[in-house]
Amino acid sequence: MTLRLDDKFVSPFTAESKIKELASEAAAAAETVAKGTGKGSSMLGWYTLPEDYDREEYARILKAAEKIRKTCDVFIVIGIGGSYLGSRAVIEFQKSPRYNSLKKDTPDVWFSGCNISSSDLKELASLCEGRDVCINVISKSGTTTEPAVAFRFWRQLLEKKYGVDGARERIYVTTDKCRGTLKAFSDESGYETFVVPDAVGGRYSVLTAVGLLPIAVAGIDTGALIEGALEARRELAQGPKDMTNPAIAYAVYRNALLRSGRSIEILVGYEPYELMFAEWWKQLFGESEGKDGKGLFPASVIFSTDLHSLGQYVQDGQRIMFETVLSVENAGDVLKVPDDPRNIDGLNFISGESLDEVNKTAMNGTLLAHFDGGVPSIVLRLRDRSEISLGYMIYFFEYACAISGYMLGVNPFDQPGVESYKKNMFALLGKPGYAEMTEALRARLR
Ligand code: PA5
Repeated sequence: MTLRLDDKFVSPFTAESKIKELASEAAAAAETVAKGTGKGSSMLGWYTLPEDYDREEYARILKAAEKIRKTCDVFIVIGIGGSYLGSRAVIEFQKSPRYNSLKKDTPDVWFSGCNISSSDLKELASLCEGRDVCINVISKSGTTTEPAVAFRFWRQLLEKKYGVDGARERIYVTTDKCRGTLKAFSDESGYETFVVPDAVGGRYSVLTAVGLLPIAVAGIDTGALIEGALEARRELAQGPKDMTNPAIAYAVYRNALLRSGRSIEILVGYEPYELMFAEWWKQLFGESEGKDGKGLFPASVIFSTDLHSLGQYVQDGQRIMFETVLSVENAGDVLKVPDDPRNIDGLNFISGESLDEVNKTAMNGTLLAHFDGGVPSIVLRLRDRSEISLGYMIYFFEYACAISGYMLGVNPFDQPGVESYKKNMFALLGKPGYAEMTEALRARLR
């Protein structure tokens, strides 16, 4: 199997009878997903996506990516939340941002519209000076403030640089297939458009045009990603609904730990390239489960880096968390620890040892220490860093998240809480139609 769940460091923290009980809840939740009878079931498009996607559009994505690679040095992806985290997670899992900017056979892929920072936008624009730019604005609703503001900015920059006709050839839009002003504006302006499928929410959209266009521009094998997700669908979604299925086992353990009073789940990586993947994972679980006063708080660390900061808290602080450790089993080509004839640091006992072995030893030592300190760890063992394995892992987490959300009794596919800040922001900015709220909120800030 491409991904295995090792429960050695978690099962001693959970009663066998509890696991049995939750395993049947998880099987029932998996049935609910399969039959489409649960809350939010109109948003299950991701479930069949690896075999059921628009082939014609996929061919267009690859063609557009090829054209973009030939015509620009920088590809700006404009989106927020589910509209950028998936592609950024995949791109940085496969190629670090450092590698990307040095390698010249694919454009740099940079992200904009995922904040409201003037300094960030200014810096990106100045880094684009003297370089050819294409942009991809991604917004399912077409009305999200952050990407909409960034799109105004980048569109004007492109039109100034290339003229309206030249800019048209460099602007790509990914949005709803017919709803929303962004779609209407794109059609009117003659931009090439791609679709966010109706039945796929932002955080489940990485394997649609939302993620695939930027990923393909970065030169990553999108076919292999989809193949990995398909393999996961066959083995997990169409596999046995018991504890031998890692998605079921993951949903069971995290719910068991939540019910026994652990309220924080920390995703632990041992490779810096897992950093943005953890951000994607946090959105997936945080937005899917954090509602109705329920849900685990998803946090993340990269060890051994963070063992020198948060490691102290995990070892000795409040016992409110558990860890999900993501171990990439085969690191590929690895460096060896150099020998030092003077042995100034006393480390010659590991001279010639592969650095990956040292990293794995850090992981094993930490697993044991945290276990002894009363912190359970679910260990997910991913075969390697390849696109196939990554596609598999994406589907694994999406599927486990749906099961886990249903076990929790929430709708894993909506995000009503995200609206609250938007309403307040619009009111405070004086958006027409919000007058009454504007006054009340402004008074509270005085
Ligand atoms: O997961 C989600 O649905 C959200 O994170 C959205 O992706 C995010 O709010 C951006 O929305 P939109 O794509 O409509 O601009």
